[in-house]
Amino acid sequence: MKPIIIQAERLSKSYAADGVQTHVLSNVDLALYEGDFTAVMGPSGSGKSTLLYCLSGMDTVTAGDVLYRGSSITSLREQDMAELRAQRFGFVFQQAHLVSNLTLFENIAVPGYLKAGRSAAATRAVASALVDRMDLAGDAHHLPSQTSGGQQQRCAVARSVVNGPDVVFADEPTGALNRANTLEVLSLLCELNAAGQSICMVTHDVQCAVRANRILYLEDGVIKGELDLPAYLEGDAAYLKAREAQVNAWLSSLSW
Ligand SMILES: Nc1ncnc2c1ncn2[C@@H]1O[C@H](COP(=O)(O)OP(=O)(O)OP(=O)(O)O)[C@@H](O)[C@H]1O
Ligand SMILES: [Mg+2]
Repeated sequence: MKPIIIQAERLSKSYAADGVQTHVLSNVDLALYEGDFTAVMGPSGSGKSTLLYCLSGMDTVTAGDVLYRGSSITSLREQDMAELRAQRFGFVFQQAHLVSNLTLFENIAVPGYLKAGRSAAATRAVASALVDRMDLAGDAHHLPSQTSGGQQQRCAVARSVVNGPDVVFADEPTGALNRANTLEVLSLLCELNAAGQSICMVTHDVQCAVRANRILYLEDGVIKGELDLPAYLEGDAAYLKAREAQVNAWLSSLSW
């Protein structure tokens, strides 16, 4: 059995606005396992982003608990939570959200200087290696505005792993990309996962979800289904098609 990294126990989240309470997540129980590439799918508004934010300590929970390696994080002070996020978690969003007056290299390296017990020189070496791995060598000294959306998102993926996180949380990381850039970002995430990186990715897209080895289906704030798949291997078109057909059949059974 793989070790559990993140666990939700009867996790509930609601928002109150104008005196009206909206229940977004209801008693969600789930575990994210070490080395897994977990995808979270579900209709728009089902609570996928909210779930990701609660699991990663970016948002507070209304009831229930979130555990990181067996310890509750829901009652951590904001400073301790920030430290946990900086040292242990990586984040990728739909938009790259790079710092506009830093080069791509600096965008990757700067959050890396927060890594406990690592020298600045060691961080720069890690950032340089990531620049190569993300195929950004020719653009590392450009500002984000001088690069394409795909390059910016590859930079955001590099930034998410500069501190060697235990888990990378990604919320529709290819949602704003064209197909070519989507495939590039997916293959980077797969490469990281093949090297042992745990990933939890929200997506609407079956082509993205098939890269995962586990898919959770969220509907109306409740986990309605779970599909385990063999680890994804870079394969030919027929392999991809068969995998997509399997996921599509499963989604159809959930009235997707
Ligand atoms: N800060 C907030 N205040 C009030 N309601 C919110 C807030 N954030 C989210 N919601 C509501 O919670 C529900 C779930 O939102 P969430 O963004 O988690 O859905 P989602 O599954 O990620 O949707 P999408 O696929 O469109 O990104 C929605 O009805 C949304 O309007
Ligand atoms: Mg969302």
